[in-house]
Order: sequence, then C-alpha cells, then structure tokens
Amino acid sequence: MESIYLDYAATTPLDPRVLEAMLPYLREEFGNPSSVHGFGRRAEKAVEGARRTVAEVLGCDPDEIIFTGGGSESNNLALRGAAFAARELRGANHLITAPTEHEAVLATMHQLRDHFGFELTELPVDRTGRVEPADVVRALRPDTALVSVMTANNEIGTLQPVAEIAAICHERGVLFHTDAVQAASQLDLNVRASGVDLLSLGAHKFYGPKGVGALYVRRGTPLLPTQTGGAQERGRRAGTSNVASIVGLAEALRITAQERETHNARFAALREYVIAGVLSNVPESRVTGHRLERLPNHASFVFRYINGNDLLMHLDLAGIAASSGSACKTGDPRPSGVLLALGLEPEWALGSLRITVGRGTTEAHVERLVAVLPKAVEKLRAERLALA
Ligand SMILES: Cc1ncc(COP(=O)(O)O)c(C=O)c1O
Repeated sequence: MESIYLDYAATTPLDPRVLEAMLPYLREEFGNPSSVHGFGRRAEKAVEGARRTVAEVLGCDPDEIIFTGGGSESNNLALRGAAFAARELRGANHLITAPTEHEAVLATMHQLRDHFGFELTELPVDRTGRVEPADVVRALRPDTALVSVMTANNEIGTLQPVAEIAAICHERGVLFHTDAVQAASQLDLNVRASGVDLLSLGAHKFYGPKGVGALYVRRGTPLLPTQTGGAQERGRRAGTSNVASIVGLAEALRITAQERETHNARFAALREYVIAGVLSNVPESRVTGHRLERLPNHASFVFRYINGNDLLMHLDLAGIAASSGSACKTGDPRPSGVLLALGLEPEWALGSLRITVGRGTTEAHVERLVAVLPKAVEKLRAERLALA
C-alpha cells in the first residue's frame, strides 16, 4: 500500500535541489564562518550569500535578516527581544496578540505576562479565526510595546489582514510582528508591501532543512538579543552559524518564491476537491477557518461526535498521514484552543482534521482520502454509539 502524505503543514520533505546546495558545507567546506582563514572565509561567503538571497525574496536589505534555529526561535527572539527593548527604551509594558497564535508565540507571550510583568491583551477573533483591525485599534495603548498576529494559521489556514494591522500599529508608533512560518511556502512575503517590522520563518515548512529559521528585523527596530555570547548575526544571535542549513534555507526560499504561482494553482484545486468531497460525503461535518481567505494548500474540518486522534489512527492504518491540527498538539486529549476560540463547542472541536497538500500530492492521493474518510468517520461514530 502506498503511503500518502497529506500533512505538509507539519513539515515538508527536503527538496533534492536544496540538499545538493547544502552538501558541500557538510563535507569539504566545513569551516567556521568566524574564522579568518580560507575555510572560514568560504563559509562566511556562503552565509552572506544566503542572507542576500533571503533579503531579495523578502524585499529587504541583507543586514535586516537574522538566521536562527527555526520558526519557534525566530518567534521567541522577536517577541522577547522587542518587548524587553521597548520596555527599556520607553517604559512600554503592554503586549497584544490573538488566542489563535501558534504556541511558539502564545507561550512566549504568556511567559512575558506571568514572569516578566508585561500586561497582555488577547484580541477577539471571529468564527473564521480572523482578527478585526478595529479591535487592534481598540486594544492599542500608549504603553503598547508590540503587536503579534500571524500571517496564516497552522490549524485552520485562515489568513490575517496583516498589512492593515501593521499600518494601524505604525500610526501609533507600535511595533508589529508576524509569524509567517506557515505562510512562507505559498504567500508573497514582501515586507515593504506588508509593512511589518518583524517576520518569522522556518525552513522546514518550505522544503528546506529542519532546525533553521530566519527573522526579518526592520532596520532601526530596537531588539535585545535573547541568546547571548559571540558576535554572530551582528550581535543579535550568538552561536556558530549552521552554515549548511542556512544555505539550504536560502535555496529553499528562492525555489519556493520562483515556483509559488504554479504550485498554488494546483494546490487550490486539490484543496477544493477535498473540501467538496468531504462536505458532501460526511454528515455533520464543517470546514474550519475562512472558506476563501485561507492558505491554498490547506483544508481543515471538524466532525461532530468523533475524536480527531482516533480518526488519525484510522487514516494512518489506511496509509494516509494527516493531522488533527497542529503537530505539536497530537496526542493531547483536550480540544484545540484555536477551535475553542472560534466558538466551536467541544463536541465539534474534538473531532478536528487537517489536510494539507504539497508538491508531492497527486489527484489520486486526494481521491483516496475522499474515498476512505467517510467510512472511517461512520465507523468511529458507530463504535461510540455502541459504547454509549
Ligand atoms: C505558525 C507556526 N509558527 C511556528 C512554528 C514553529 O516552527 P519550528 O517548527 O520551525 O520551530 C510552526 C510549526 O508548526 C507553525 O506552524
């Protein structure tokens, strides 16, 4: 039985072209970019070339890019670094985010609130998970340090009005960060167009290696380093650069930007097939997130009266790899906080399923899903009734 991978939001396979670009830096070009000799200089050249590539894709200058150890670290550095610096510079003590953010943002915000004395406002979201810009206006205060709202949601695919929110923040002199980790494989991330001050990326979501990320920091944005030590990344992130992975991130981002349009059109067609197939074949099913303002590759559902983790096991036995929402939440028996924030009752929210397609997905793959899923849901509901 062929294994079908429909979980591209959890992670993507490494593009063979990216691996090729990385290999020299795992073999003969192993130098430390901080060393003065030839090995070091060649490694440094590779890192600086990667920085230029990333800057070109994002529409910024190379010195506005910091390489990190992944999307979570980029978020941590952005939030802590900007919050601490804003407090030191202007006594700003207030932060704003939304309850639908990824844990890497939410847990960091909660720690800043619970252990570092910041006040935190969590914005309301509508039933599709969208933040209303007018609510940002209402939440902003003279002492607001930073607002963080993600570009696209990992569990429900909903896109946020990031450019509008950034403009509102700037009118009041407040910094705006966006977690673009999910968005990077499919959306244009030009930071001049969106006007964001800080933007987080993680390479493994766009066919790059795991454990490497990037953070865009607009020039002049006060940022206190959170990982201290050597002077790498212009003193903003200490530690010997992960040269091969940084080269891989840049190559993966370059290819993604180049091929985005072609892939997106195909992804959207596959997504629509999945949504139509599921809604018309599974009783008591709903799409979660925004119906249209969502990532092209992302379909997410809730099914009443079933447990999403049981459904995942059924699908896995049938050779289909999917997710109940966020990879980080798998195995957790509680309903997802994101789905509860949309106002879904637990009897619905517990039965969540996320299907995300990618470069390796074929029509046959989604046809198989649409054939297998209704029977799996029916079986789980029958088992539940038999137990009741
Ligand atoms: C929206 C979002 N932010 C942050 C992360 C964390 O990124 P990383 O796995 O690179 O630490 C993820 C990964 O699931 C994500 O989907």
